[in-house]
Amino acid sequence: MKAMDRRSALKLGAVAAMTPVLAQLVACGPGGGSGGGSANPTGPITLENIRDFVVGIDEPVELEDGSTRTAICFDNAATTPALVPVMNAVADELRMYGSIGRGFSQKSDHSTELYEATREKALSFLGADPETYTCFYANSATDGLNKLASALVESEKTVVLTTRLEHHSNLLPWRERCKVICAEMDDQGRIIYEDFEKQLKENKVDYVTVTAASNVTGYVTDVHRVAKLAHAHGAKIVVDGAQIVAHRAFSMVGETPEENIDFFAFSAHKMYSPFGGGAVVGLTEVLNEHMPEFYGGGTVRIVADDWVTYKEPPESYEAGSPNYPGVVGLGKAIEVLQEVGFDAIQEHEQALVRKMVDGLLAIDNIVIYGDTEDTTDRVGVVSFNTPDINTHVLAKRLASSYAVATRRGAFCAHPYVWRLMNIPDNDVRGFLECVDVNTAGMLRVSFGIYNTEEEVEEFLQALPEAIKLAQADAEFYSRAEPAY
Ligand code: ALA
Repeated sequence: MKAMDRRSALKLGAVAAMTPVLAQLVACGPGGGSGGGSANPTGPITLENIRDFVVGIDEPVELEDGSTRTAICFDNAATTPALVPVMNAVADELRMYGSIGRGFSQKSDHSTELYEATREKALSFLGADPETYTCFYANSATDGLNKLASALVESEKTVVLTTRLEHHSNLLPWRERCKVICAEMDDQGRIIYEDFEKQLKENKVDYVTVTAASNVTGYVTDVHRVAKLAHAHGAKIVVDGAQIVAHRAFSMVGETPEENIDFFAFSAHKMYSPFGGGAVVGLTEVLNEHMPEFYGGGTVRIVADDWVTYKEPPESYEAGSPNYPGVVGLGKAIEVLQEVGFDAIQEHEQALVRKMVDGLLAIDNIVIYGDTEDTTDRVGVVSFNTPDINTHVLAKRLASSYAVATRRGAFCAHPYVWRLMNIPDNDVRGFLECVDVNTAGMLRVSFGIYNTEEEVEEFLQALPEAIKLAQADAEFYSRAEPAY
């Protein structure tokens, strides 16, 4: 089969798998659903029954040989499937949907009320006092971080201190606007906290920005420790919460006021609500003094020919008609995650990481990134390499023959990945000349609450065989698409 046929087979499989779910979302009435084990799951949601509440979990996908198989989704750091209560809440609320904060109708009142109440829910989810913090909605963590950078950076002389671990969305919004310096990482890829302090002493830093958890190694940052250091040197702290919100309890509040977090951005599509939502929670008094360069309806009080007066936050940060389904989904996802409980989620995902790391260590010739002995400070992310075979080819083989969804490459965190792989900057330039199958990168498995130990076992069993098959694929690719 040619490479193109392979791609078509996968694509067709994926579309076929999606269609009934989307159709059901459109047609869905109250209590309808498309969970794993039960068509209409009810009752308290726990880790034991969570698979009944995940949309499309049993949908088969088409393999290269034409057979179908239930997929294993190990790509949750990129995005998560919807929860049935989230899908149902969105479908229900669409019936009562009216314009937010603009209309005069019962539906408009209802939608506006829910939209505003969800801000309170998001604040409470993060332990943020509404007297001190404001929640504004964003389309994703990326969107929220861009809005924050746009608002907070006053000139190119603003100094932002960040880390080597950041993904692009918490690097480029700052780097494109002002001076960015970095605290270094150690040999295992962890943040060196002492270097934060050194940088803060040597530079007049305005903002410190740091990921709460890495999307490459899963390392969890001690953000309250960083907050204390930042505040001691007169800087404010922004936390990129994209990889933490669905995996560990997070609080804006530390043990002392100096440890409190000033700004926190997160995406809903990484917490089981793939409807384009997200939010930023930040200090009201600081948000009040700034505004992002996003102008338009909803942000203004009065506009005349040559003057304009703007509203206060959160409205001044939310230009345009809001993404109401995204907000509804976000609110429901928060409820479900709280119902399942973060202690249980953390324990479960830790067990999956440990099992995966132990299994990979037992397979010859696998390079695992990050600490493999102490995995307790890692969320459910394991990235590794197979030096004999490019991970692009391996990831395709895992999907096409085993229905395992992974991600490969540099995970929108290029500088961190190149460092972990010991690739110098001048070699990175060479990748621009490569086709994908010859470009360096890692393979990543990332877990959600619904993944199981059996899925990890199945993956580990398939991997050596997949590597062998991928070696044959690589020969095919190198003949068909030589690097230039
Ligand atoms: N969404 C990106 C990921 O897959 C950053 O990790």
